[in-house]
Amino acid sequence: MHTFKKLFALVLSFMIISCKTDEKTYNQEINITPKPMELSVRDGKFTLKSNTIFVVKDEPVRRVADFFISKIQRSTGYSLLKQQDRPSSNYIDLSIVADLKVNDEGYTVDVAGDGISVKATTPQGIFYGLQTVMQLLPAEIESPDVVKISWTIPNVSIKDEPRFKYRGQHLDVCRHFVDVEHIKKQLDVMAMFKINKFHWHLTDDQGWRIESKKYPKLNSASTVRTESEGNIYGPYYYTHQQIREIVAYAGERFIEVIPEVELPGHAVAALSAYPEYSCTGGTFEVRNVWGVANDVFCAGNDATFAFLTDIIEEVIPLFRSDYFHIGGDECPKGRWEKCPKCQERIKKEKLKDEHELQSWFIRRIEKVLIQHNKKMIGWDEILEGGLAPSATVMSWRGEKGGLDAANMGHDAIMTPGGWLYLDHYQGDPKVEPVTIGGYTTLEKTYSYEPVPEGIDSDKAKHILGAQANVWTEYIYAPEQTEYMAYPRAIALAEVTWSRREQKDYRDFERRIANQLVRLDGHHINYHIPIPEQPGSSSGFIAFIDSATVELKTTRPVKIIYTTGMEEPAARNSKEYTAPLKFSESTVLKVRSVLPSGKMSVTRTIYLDKQTYAPATATEAASDMKVEYYRGKYFKASELEGKTPDEIEHVESMRKVKYRIPDYREVYDDDYCSVVLTGYFHVPENGIYCFSTAVDGLWIDGKLFIDNEGTVRKNVKSDKSIALAKGYHSVKIVRLGNIIGGWPSQWDAVSVIWKKADQQKFAELR
Ligand code: ACM
Ligand code: ZN
Repeated sequence: MHTFKKLFALVLSFMIISCKTDEKTYNQEINITPKPMELSVRDGKFTLKSNTIFVVKDEPVRRVADFFISKIQRSTGYSLLKQQDRPSSNYIDLSIVADLKVNDEGYTVDVAGDGISVKATTPQGIFYGLQTVMQLLPAEIESPDVVKISWTIPNVSIKDEPRFKYRGQHLDVCRHFVDVEHIKKQLDVMAMFKINKFHWHLTDDQGWRIESKKYPKLNSASTVRTESEGNIYGPYYYTHQQIREIVAYAGERFIEVIPEVELPGHAVAALSAYPEYSCTGGTFEVRNVWGVANDVFCAGNDATFAFLTDIIEEVIPLFRSDYFHIGGDECPKGRWEKCPKCQERIKKEKLKDEHELQSWFIRRIEKVLIQHNKKMIGWDEILEGGLAPSATVMSWRGEKGGLDAANMGHDAIMTPGGWLYLDHYQGDPKVEPVTIGGYTTLEKTYSYEPVPEGIDSDKAKHILGAQANVWTEYIYAPEQTEYMAYPRAIALAEVTWSRREQKDYRDFERRIANQLVRLDGHHINYHIPIPEQPGSSSGFIAFIDSATVELKTTRPVKIIYTTGMEEPAARNSKEYTAPLKFSESTVLKVRSVLPSGKMSVTRTIYLDKQTYAPATATEAASDMKVEYYRGKYFKASELEGKTPDEIEHVESMRKVKYRIPDYREVYDDDYCSVVLTGYFHVPENGIYCFSTAVDGLWIDGKLFIDNEGTVRKNVKSDKSIALAKGYHSVKIVRLGNIIGGWPSQWDAVSVIWKKADQQKFAELR
């Protein structure tokens, strides 16, 4: 085609696409999220135009108007003007009304053909009212580039206010760092959903991420670590200037930034620079293994408190929040038990034990915060040994901490792991990228009710709200924090803003389709459900005659597939509507498609037509040989030709869950590889499934499962094979190393195998 014609065709198709945008299914109906308190829809509509006027009378509202004028400009291309008097039509009128019957974050929005009126008692209320106006517009209003569509809003009346005043999102930047640009991006999105607290976890064992002018070794030594694989991570930290920049940016979006400086535990990064504040004197290295460290700040040494006071006094002026989070979680007491200074402190302060010492520690820090008019927040462990008088408790180990604190008359913020830890899996671990564990779907997060059962009726007011946490042990890049946070953080927004009786998961699910298009406008790498199989999502299915593949997703989305090696896309794929049956070897590629047309990653499922692999022995010894190799190994091939340090014999692989012997019963050593060889008995001809996190599994001399070089935190491998009745040889290798901060011995401990047509892991004989 002639270039001009091509261009013309392109422009034409773009026009067709863009004219149709406002008819997109995801833009139909009302999609405001979180759901407002009261809403009524009337006939008629208002259309935002290039000459729509913002009416602003109150000075503090001007900045709010400017924020939305520039937001609207990006996607519409309109340069909207402000004026003080309301024109007869085509306006967005913002006014502060002191006696409006909503709380100080609430607002009303009235849309009529002539214009929009937004009222609130505070600029923050006006800000939320305008976010609601954005949510009434087509989702493309969040686009970073100009979109040519009709910007219409249905005529509605809305009265809205939040149920809870604490609506939080947390981010751990210690395990993996998140740069300033990505933090701002998340603040933009939080503001869209009226989330108003950003809890910034700034210090931990694996990294100190906030500049100190007074203790410069924190900036050098504590911000960098050597990973167990040998690569250097860091130095990463925020300068005071950057912290101020983030705090100001958040402030423009009515988000309060709450810093967390961890004590007395989770302190190894700091101790690596200043070991004198530990019990043992060190030395320490910034920790490169996740979990809980034994070394903590020494509670017996007054110099520790001088150091921590200096740090707190340096951090406080950078933030505007009334709150200061001091951590307080997961502080092992072993070092304190053996430290003469800590024991002396217990005696002198007449404390009962190390738990009371922790409590005494927190109270001493609380005094520093009170001097600076700051309110202390701590994780729920601060209840142990007695709660500091003014503390607000953040309940993470379930709801009990929050419940107890509230019943004692303390404020509490609910962040229970089972619902609100967004580092958990949100789909089948076999198809999702590695995470720390858990299983918390969008629906589970949405189902959370912040006021715990059993609370005294007059104490419910102490539940300030709830927060979703993103810990980054297994989140290696900022894009992955987005993948874990969204859309689950939007569920948290509705949990904390909307009334309990208003919640309706099916309706929320419908609105999410629209909200995800808004996130596209911010280039957010949100989670899209990946097609799974019921039970366990195997990527390699052996069969003799035929195999059936059933697919599902964690929420209803379209699934498409191809069977010819091609990536599924709109033009070449079929839509999945019923289980697929295969009688020949096939490479099945599946992915899901959102109403916007955006697709998930592609999953490949290999279907392999086999014949029963013959038994390789008729009789076998009833035990397996186990060889132990001390030291770090990353590849099974490195063990070849080595002499084992120890050999023993254990029971053969008869059980459905075959456990790898624990070398720590043999050695007190961090690193040890285990190689098992022997035979296992297959009771009858059949298809057998194997699932394991070991590094390698060989069947009849062939490598069958290969996990070498992966983080073993989840069991990715789930494969089947056709085996004939009789004895088959097996070799299992579990390497002693740490990959991705996870020691292999913590999870590569078993091989599970079962006959494919058995639902349960029934015992094989
Ligand atoms: C926590 O997750 N350790 C607060
Ligand atoms: Zn000590």
